[in-house]
This record gives sequence, C-alpha cells and structure tokens, in this order.
Amino acid sequence: MSDLRIETIKADITRLTTDAIVNAANSSLLGGGGVDGAIHRAAGPALLAHCRTIGGCPTGEARITPAFALPSKWIIHTVGPVWQGGNKGEADLLAGCYRSCLVLAAAHSIRTIAFPAISCGVYGYPAATACRIAVRTIKMFETNNTTLERVLLVAYDDHTASLMKQALDGAD
Ligand code: APR
Repeated sequence: MSDLRIETIKADITRLTTDAIVNAANSSLLGGGGVDGAIHRAAGPALLAHCRTIGGCPTGEARITPAFALPSKWIIHTVGPVWQGGNKGEADLLAGCYRSCLVLAAAHSIRTIAFPAISCGVYGYPAATACRIAVRTIKMFETNNTTLERVLLVAYDDHTASLMKQALDGAD
C-alpha cells in the first residue's frame, strides 16, 4: 500500500494539470452539458471522434481516452447513476464509478487524478451523500494502492466544496 493524498479544491476541472481528469458522462459518451460539455469543448472535436469508436459505457463503469487539447494527459469517462430516490442501487453504482476510474488509473500508471462531483448535477444525486460515497470508495481503494499518489475532489461551487471537505474531515 502506498499513501494516497486525497484533497478537495474548487476549480474548473478542464484547467487542471493532473495526469487524468474524470468526466461525468452519459452512457453514449458522445458529450452533453455540465462538466461533460465543458470537457468536450476544452478537449476539442478529436475527443468526440475518439469517443465514437468506443461504443458507449454502462452506468457504474469507466472508459479512458487521451485528453487531446486539455492540459491533462488522460480523460477517464464514467457514467454515474441518475438519482431515483435511493432504492435502485444508486449508491453501489456511484461507488462503482469511483472504483472503476481508480482501477483504470492504476492500470495506466496514472499518479494524479481529479474527480468532479459525479451525478451531483443533472443526475440529481444528493451531494452530501455522494461526497461521502466518493471519499469512502477512494479510501477503500487505498488499501491496495501502489501507483496513485494524489486524488483531487473538484468542486465547481462553494456548497459542493464544503460538502467535499466535510466528507473528507468526517472520514475515519
Ligand atoms: N469543472 C468541475 N466541475 C464541474 C464543471 C467544471 N467545469 N462543470 C460542472 N461541474 C460540476 C457540477 O457543478 C456538478 O457538481 O460537476 C458536477 C456534476 O454535474 P453534471 O456535469 O451535471 O454531471 P452529472 O450530474 O453526473 O450528470 C451527467 O449530464 O452533462 C450531462 O452528458 C452528461 O448526461 C450526462 C449528465
């Protein structure tokens, strides 16, 4: 196991220089609004052309692409669950997003990775709960981690930033 630094910042994820940034995509992987739209705009049209060759991604899983015009090297696209009240396996699917991204990152010797608040926008996941799931899943991954050095939880607004910080401070 190697120590994993988990930090939270408020930023536009498209401007970060971590080895990888995570995209909160939809199952088509063909772009959308929110952070998905911002990443596609900043990465350029080559990203969409590449994503067309992937053939989509199921909810709870992740796919990796180059980052093209972005400052990072990789984009890991993951499809979060749409919040449906909490009894449709949403928590397990969201944890699966974080885990799938971390497994892909390790497989590509990625040392630093930045996550947005997956499913906390259009997909309506209650952000406080989602942030706790994110921190818990990342910490569980740490026990077998040998490559990752730093995980950034990236908020785009003050409220989400405070929820991420609370989740980090509250983690055992
Ligand atoms: N940098 C960092 N975070 C951002 C950025 C950005 N540039 N833009 C938005 N966010 C934040 C939002 O404020 C929210 O907290 O990312 C979080 C996730 O929100 P969404 O982007 O709406 O993603 P999600 O809720 O997972 O819904 C995914 O939305 O954009 C479509 O194609 C996407 O269908 C998919 C759905």
